[in-house]
Amino acid sequence: MSNSFHDQLVATRDRKHSKNHPFFELWAQGKLTREQTAFYCTQHYHFVAEYLNWMAYEASQIPLRDVKNYLFENLGDEENPDDRHLDMLKDYVAASGVARDSVEGTLVLAGTDGLQSWGWRMVYQTPWQGAVAGMFIGLESQFLDICKKIVPALHKHYGYAPHAREIRFFEEHVYADEIHGSKGFAIVEKYCNTPELQALAIKTVEQATIRRWRYMNSIYWYALHGKEEDTPSLQV
Ligand SMILES: [Fe+2]
Repeated sequence: MSNSFHDQLVATRDRKHSKNHPFFELWAQGKLTREQTAFYCTQHYHFVAEYLNWMAYEASQIPLRDVKNYLFENLGDEENPDDRHLDMLKDYVAASGVARDSVEGTLVLAGTDGLQSWGWRMVYQTPWQGAVAGMFIGLESQFLDICKKIVPALHKHYGYAPHAREIRFFEEHVYADEIHGSKGFAIVEKYCNTPELQALAIKTVEQATIRRWRYMNSIYWYALHGKEEDTPSLQV
């Protein structure tokens, strides 16, 4: 492994990258029902809705103009009133046969709740250089690779034409997250400029990947088995 900070960030993220989670393996093979994929989207909605709040919070905390600008630019893309990303997600849910306006009210799994709660602790309690590493590299940059895996399956197994409105959420993020991701890396590399901050960034990225994997586990167990994990019940 190269010792550059960039490569260490990538290697840490990739060690437990959620693109390799069994849920996405099944999706890529066309083995999930549309309803199961829509269920994933409901949890992604609950997660991203908080992620956007973390960006807004960090923007209020960080005095540096380029970082603040990036956060607002990223948030502006996400919250564009004419093309809100979370609305694209609802388009996919609706196309999967699940009521579009049910998304906000769907249950929040314990794994999703855990990811939300951890994210708030991260932004409140971690120096901002570590928090942006966790957000941009540990969490957001993963979604690009996840979408690269899912999009071919949406075409091949689920019958969506390339550039169909229903799957814009996934296709757009291959593009949008390529841009957000590279700018995110640049900021982390620029401002994690001491051994201590670099170690903090690596640690926070690792925590983010573990938290996201755990969130994926609870989606997997609920969508496929109707429960949140596999601990056996006590016999009474
Ligand atoms: Fe987005």
